[in-house]
Formats: sequence, C-alpha cells, structure tokens
Amino acid sequence: MSLAVVILAAGQGTRMKSSLPKMLHQAAGRPLLGHVIERAKELEPDKIVIITGHGADQIENHFASEPVVFARQTEQLGTAHAFLCAKEALSGFAGDVFVLYGDTPLMTLETLQNALEAHRSAKAGMTVITGILEDATGYGRIVRDGSGEVVRIVEQKAASDSEKTIKEWNSGMYVFDSSAFVLAAQIGNSNAAKEYYLTDILELYRQNHKPVVAKVTASSELEGSNDRVQLAAADKTLRDRIRIRHMKNGVTMRDPNTIYIDDTVSIANDVILEQGVTLTGNTSIATGSQIGAYSIIHDCQLEEAVIVKPHSVLEGARLAIGSDVGPFARIRPGTVLEAGVHVGNFVEIKNSHLMADAKAGHLAYIGDATVGREVNFSAGAITANYDGVDKHRTTILDGAFIGTNATLVAPVTIEQGAFVAAGSTITTDVPEGALGVTRASQKILEGWSVKYWTKKLETAKSTKLPVIRNWLGMRRID
Ligand code: UD1
Ligand code: MG
Repeated sequence: MSLAVVILAAGQGTRMKSSLPKMLHQAAGRPLLGHVIERAKELEPDKIVIITGHGADQIENHFASEPVVFARQTEQLGTAHAFLCAKEALSGFAGDVFVLYGDTPLMTLETLQNALEAHRSAKAGMTVITGILEDATGYGRIVRDGSGEVVRIVEQKAASDSEKTIKEWNSGMYVFDSSAFVLAAQIGNSNAAKEYYLTDILELYRQNHKPVVAKVTASSELEGSNDRVQLAAADKTLRDRIRIRHMKNGVTMRDPNTIYIDDTVSIANDVILEQGVTLTGNTSIATGSQIGAYSIIHDCQLEEAVIVKPHSVLEGARLAIGSDVGPFARIRPGTVLEAGVHVGNFVEIKNSHLMADAKAGHLAYIGDATVGREVNFSAGAITANYDGVDKHRTTILDGAFIGTNATLVAPVTIEQGAFVAAGSTITTDVPEGALGVTRASQKILEGWSVKYWTKKLETAKSTKLPVIRNWLGMRRID
C-alpha cells in the first residue's frame, strides 16, 4: 500500500510572540516541525510534503537535508487550501494520504500506525484522529448520529449550544484515500471565517458513500504547541520519554528528573549519567562511559569508557577510548583527545589535538596546538596562541615535558623528548632532547627576611602575627 504524508506548517503562530516561525521553536532539542518529520519518516511513506507559508524560507533552509519536498501556500486561506497546495507535489501518486500538523510534536508513531491500520482494515475513505476532553472549547467537534456514526465536524464558531457540549474533538490529523484531492477541491469558504475548512471533506466522503472512521486517542498527544507555556509542557513530556527510552536501553541515571537529554543524542548501554547532566545536539556516548554531575556536553563524540568528572563543559570535541576530563574542565570546539589522554581540573582546551596518553592535569590553557604522545603539560602552563590579530599553532612532539607556568608563544615547536623549564617564556623552537629555559638564575640573600620582619613588626600592633614573632624570638635566643 502506498502512503504519502502531508504536513501543514504554513500558519503563523502569533501566540508565540516571536520573530522565529513557530514551527522552528524547539522542544527537547528539535524544532516542533522536526519531531513531526521524524514521525513521518518512521511511517516509511513514499513521499513527505511540507506546506510552508509564514517563515517559509527559514523553515525550508532548516530542513533542506531532510527527505521531504516543500510546497508553498502563499496566502493562508485555511486548512483545505493548505492541503490542496500538496496536490502538484503528489501528482501521479495513488494511495493513502496522512495529514499531520507541524506543531504537534507529541504524536507517537504507535498512534499514527494505529490510525493507519484502522483506516485500512475498515477500507475507509477517511479516518480522523480524535481526542476526548471534558471541555473541548476552541476545537472542531465530532458530531455523531444516533447510531454513533461520525457525520460531520463542526468548528467552534459554527457550533450550536448543544454541539458545544460535545467532548470529542478533531485533532486535525487524518488519513484519506486517494480521492482526497478531488474532494478537497470541492470545498468552499462560505463560513464565518471565510476560510476553506478541510473538516468539510468529511461530509463529501459520506456523500460519496465512503466510510468515515474516528480513531480516539489520548488528547495529551494531539495538542499543539501554540504558546510558550504549551511549548514548555511539550518539552517536558518529550524529555520524560527520552529518559525512559535510554534507561530501557541500559543507561543508568542518578536522579533522572534532573538530567536533560536532547532527542538528537545517542547513548549506548552501560553508560552512567550522574545528576544534573545536560546532553545536547549531535552528541553520542559509547558504552562504559560515565558523565559526572552537572556536566554539559554539546555536539561531542565520546568513545568507549570515557570519564567526564563533575562540572565539566564540553563542546564540539571527540574523546577517544579511556580518556578522562574534569572536574571543571572546559573542552572547546575542534578538540580531539586520543586514547588515554588525561585532562584535569580547570584546564581549557580549544581546537587542539592531544595524542595518546598526553596529560594536562591542572590549570592549563591549550589552544590551536598539536600535543604528542605522553607529553606532560604541567599546572599553569599555557599556549600563547593569539598575537592580537592572528592565531598561531603550537606543536609539541612525543614525550616532551612542559614545566609549570611555562608560556609557549606560538608559532613554536617543542621537539621530541625536550623539556621546557618551569616558568619559562618560550619564543623559539626547543630542539629534540634539549632543555629550553628563560629564567634568571636564582640568588640567595642570607638573613634577608629576618631583617625584613624585625623591622616590619617593630611598628605593628603587638598582637599581630604571633607565629612569626615567636619564630623571630627563638632565633635571637639562638
Ligand atoms: C483546525 C481544525 C479544527 C481542529 C483544530 C485542531 C479546520 C477548519 N479546523 O482548527 O477542527 O480541532 O485544527 O488543532 O481545519 N495551516 C496552514 N495553512 C492555513 C491554515 C492552517 O498551513 O491556511 C496549518 C497551521 O500551521 C496548523 C494547522 O494547519 O499547523 C491548523 O491550523 P489552525 O489555524 O491552527 O487550525 P484551527 O483553526 O485551530
Ligand atoms: Mg490550531
């Protein structure tokens, strides 16, 4: 059986009060329309057509790489008019057509499949997905006859007082048989809103003696995200589902409600996520890895058994097997940490490649650098990669040792096995096996501090610095 999906996404979404088209507002790390596209793809249809209007350029650019076609609705004349805009894109197509809205991100695949199955097994002309609400004010209502058959959909504006008490509401999502475009073209706009209502197609199907089925579904799945309050609620529901999906796949979560995971993130089994972790964007985490509390990871690839200790922030990096970072590490875009690399607390790394088993244990900055295998980059050492105008690279070859508080002024190369003495400012290359040192040699001035303190404490309050006074007193007895 052939299937096409038409997603209506041309509406403005005024209640978002936003310059961003409503369809591009995000829930759980994906635009609203993105969630609907994901569900549509899971139905494995022959074609997906998205009707765009408000913000069409932005929306079409955003989803340019998706396997969909766009059809423009230049004037928003109603849902039937929007649907008919897909006609050209589907010319030559014969089969069922599923109509979805671009702003209902909570629809599950199961719900869509159930509707399709109900439609096909009843050989229906039209199947409408409906919900039940105690108060369905605002929605189109499903009107049934005495025998319970669906006879029409009445919009809020046109509903009589008794129709307004109907609890079954129209989600606006339908499965149609292949006559949908012919019938939709017959719909007029002689109603209060002067709009072409797709809901009117129901009576046309009945006039053509085709069965109409209503498939009742949980209202919570059918509601759109029309303002920021509904957007936040959708975000929460989606994130709950995402956590459950990962836990069922073997991911351990400490205090799951504090963990935020975008829909776009992939996580293997036997990964442990501690409380407060945020995983966003195109992030993937391989098995055996552990992410420490309150760490934030965006667009990163973590291979097997990577350890991220608490309060670390990682973006746009690849961490190879067995590497570890943090606590309080900042890993910035363009960074690659090869196997077994160790990055400790208060270390910042940007656009740098650290080869296997390199170490930067404390308080360092490594920017635009290549760091060889087993290099030790000590506490407080930095690459001075920026001259005020341009960025330059630092190259450190295998086994080199960079002492504490060293400044490597790029461009500069530290060759294999070389040492840079602590506190040195290195501006020219250090050859293989050499020591680069730029410190003045140390002098010892015997007794200097005794004189200093003696003079200083003569004028200070007698209760100040008792330990130093005691030490000075003992020296005089000597
Ligand atoms: C529609 C239904 C109503 C249903 C409700 C569910 C009609 C006449 N009414 O009403 O029975 O209960 O949805 O939410 O269909 N759109 C376009 N182009 C247009 C108009 C709308 O693309 O010209 C898109 C919107 O972007 C949106 C969807 O269609 O995704 C629904 O449009 P909306 O204006 O919200 O329809 P309602 O009046 O709420
Ligand atoms: Mg609506």
